[in-house]
Amino acid sequence: MKHDAIAVIDFGGQYAHLIATKVRRQNVLAKICQPEDPIEQFEAYKGIIISGSPALGSRGEESAYDKSIFSLDVPILGICFGHQEIARHYGGDIVYGGREWGRAELHLARPHPLFKGLEKVEQVWMSHFDSVAALGPDFEELGFSIQSNGGKRHGNAAIGSDKHRRYGFQFHPEVDDTVHGDQILANFLFEIAGCRPTWTMHQYVDEQVAAIRQKVGPGSVFLLASGGVDSTVAAKLIGQALGPDRLHLLHIDNGLMRKDESKTVMDRFRAMGLEKNLHFVDASEIFLDNLKGIVEPEKKREIIGNTFVHVFQKEAVRLGIEDHLLGQGTIYPDTIETGGTKRADTIKTHHNRVPLIEKMIAAGKVIEPLSDLYKVEVRELGEQLGIDRDVCWRHPFPGPGLGIRLLCATGQADMGDFNPFPAALREISARCGVQAQVLPIRSVGVKADVRSYEHPVLLSGTGTWQQFVAGASAVLSEVSGVNRCIYYVGSEPPKEVRALGATVTEERLDLLREVDFIVMQGLKTAGLYDRIWQCPTVLVPMEINGTGRELAIVRPIHSERAMTAAAAELPQSLIKVFQTQILPLTGISGLAIDLTSKPPGTIEWE
Ligand code: XMP
Repeated sequence: MKHDAIAVIDFGGQYAHLIATKVRRQNVLAKICQPEDPIEQFEAYKGIIISGSPALGSRGEESAYDKSIFSLDVPILGICFGHQEIARHYGGDIVYGGREWGRAELHLARPHPLFKGLEKVEQVWMSHFDSVAALGPDFEELGFSIQSNGGKRHGNAAIGSDKHRRYGFQFHPEVDDTVHGDQILANFLFEIAGCRPTWTMHQYVDEQVAAIRQKVGPGSVFLLASGGVDSTVAAKLIGQALGPDRLHLLHIDNGLMRKDESKTVMDRFRAMGLEKNLHFVDASEIFLDNLKGIVEPEKKREIIGNTFVHVFQKEAVRLGIEDHLLGQGTIYPDTIETGGTKRADTIKTHHNRVPLIEKMIAAGKVIEPLSDLYKVEVRELGEQLGIDRDVCWRHPFPGPGLGIRLLCATGQADMGDFNPFPAALREISARCGVQAQVLPIRSVGVKADVRSYEHPVLLSGTGTWQQFVAGASAVLSEVSGVNRCIYYVGSEPPKEVRALGATVTEERLDLLREVDFIVMQGLKTAGLYDRIWQCPTVLVPMEINGTGRELAIVRPIHSERAMTAAAAELPQSLIKVFQTQILPLTGISGLAIDLTSKPPGTIEWE
């Protein structure tokens, strides 16, 4: 069946892909398109949505796309940047100013099909510098906004022209903080664009099965199967498309897995009926050898990604199946964070996006049936395919595994004129009643859509959780050169903190495996595993008060799609369990909890 479809034109805004996801949630097919795609291609769509952008239209940035898109007889909705472009194209004015952040009230001017089923005042979410100052002749203001907590009135928060079938929202209907955003998008799809809601996950399976068959032809697939949610769902889907004879699975123990993980993974694939061509390689020595002496996170990621490919290629030769396509469970955030869309910065190179794999993709040698999906959709797809709920909803685990949770450092040498107590931090310490110091190590983060490699701040003292959270939020918004905030578990602030040099070693990995195991067991016993999206444990080579070599950091977060995350609160009783079980381990010098949201931190530390 041919579905009605919506084109989402990606101008590089953080949420372009989220718009597409939310459209699919309404059972309408959505495709991400680029501004430079041929105009004729857009004629086939029932509607077009123009996304936000990091660019400022008021400064003439990003205006080089083909404006004849506006002459198509297809309804267009612009969001944020898209909204401003529509206003400008039809004779309005945009200015640098009227900026709004976060929640706002949308006050509707009159009933309109776009706002069917909504109240006169709705909570929406804003994030913009530019705004629409005046409208052209055929346009009307459909709503204005007032920033929550009694802010100013901002005109043209929603605009429209029924004559041209062009509409614009300054707010973001696609983010969850716009309370009835789904309804607003549904109104555009059904009331304005006249879409039929025919697309379902069930059909997605059928379509993907057909697409896999077409891409693979008479050939076969050799899938790298870590056993995480993504590769498990990809294995099941490809298996369904090609049958067990034409799918080979390779599970590589890279030495960076969790405690006993490889055994569990192999058992699970067998239980799923995929044992026929299931292969296992213990390549831990090769991975550890290749990582010897490496400190820089991107280098580590590249080495891990390349080693996967080398081990895979060697195994394919050994099995005599070199002509198979390489299968991977890559999902959308892996691509966008690696800078894999035209306008996105490289935040970190995901293991399945190293240059070696990019080359194989260009040569048509890779198949990735989940590459348009987010984690939450992969999980739904997994359930649709009959995979156990427990497997579908496991915490995500990164391809490079514990390799990127074992922080490596040269010691003091790369710290330059490092200052542990800058004035801004001392002021926050006094204001929030917590001790704070910048740590002499660095980790990866993301700020304003751009990668950062900066220092964490350690908070300590006897404050409450709320006090530490408030302190963290002040530090992250007011202190420059830092991208994370952690709080030190212990009533006394550390007296002496010393950064040590360290790289990936088996001994450190074993220690991390043990701490990670304690944390996972603790979450499960406390009934919290399912209420927390992910909880990496990180080891940082840092000596505290002259004891041990490693600071253990637990990072519990809430998220849905991994593009943003909020620190999750852990009960004191569980922190106590961690304290009593982790601190006595040989090599551990202290325990801390990460309070950083994403942005400015990323979920993983490297
Ligand atoms: P970050 O650290 O970028 O992580 O905020 C977002 C999500 O992606 C996972 N992650 C990876 N997954 N290969 C993967 O398959 C990778 O190279 C990789 N790096 C990060 C991370 O655990 C989180 O869920």
